[in-house]
Amino acid sequence: MKHIIFLISPFFLFAASSFITPMEYSSQLYKNPRGIGCQHCHGENGEGKIVANYVEKKQKKSFKGPAINKLDYNKFYIALSKRVDGMPRYFLINKEIEALYLFVHKNNEKEVKNEK
Ligand code: HEC
Repeated sequence: MKHIIFLISPFFLFAASSFITPMEYSSQLYKNPRGIGCQHCHGENGEGKIVANYVEKKQKKSFKGPAINKLDYNKFYIALSKRVDGMPRYFLINKEIEALYLFVHKNNEKEVKNEK
């Protein structure tokens, strides 16, 4: 009996992990990386967002997360691999950076497909 469970369990593990699509995975990672979710500063889909308005030396200012849905992969990768002012430091592996890139570019992909 033990042997049967031993043989079957890897199959279940594999089956369970294949239920989540790459887009579901990347969407979850965007909203819940090991740190603050990207959407708080860059908007739900990476379109950019004003996080807070404030007054400094009698000047109205705002803290903004820039749009990150139009960057090329290189810029995207570099920003996530080094220290960026105003942004938490994330320690992501390449696969995770790729997944995040996929997530914020999902609409661009649709645009490309529609053109065909
Ligand atoms: C606390 C707010 C905050 C959070 C959370 C945050 N960022 Fe940022 N991010 C910023 C700010 C502010 C900048 C702009 C820094 C600058 O202008 O030097 C930035 C810059 C970037 C850039 C570079 C943009 C460019 O034009 O070069 C990328 C890419 C990026 N963030 C991706 C992400 C991703 C992906 C996440 C989630 C894993 C994330 N950020 C989470 C605030 C944030």
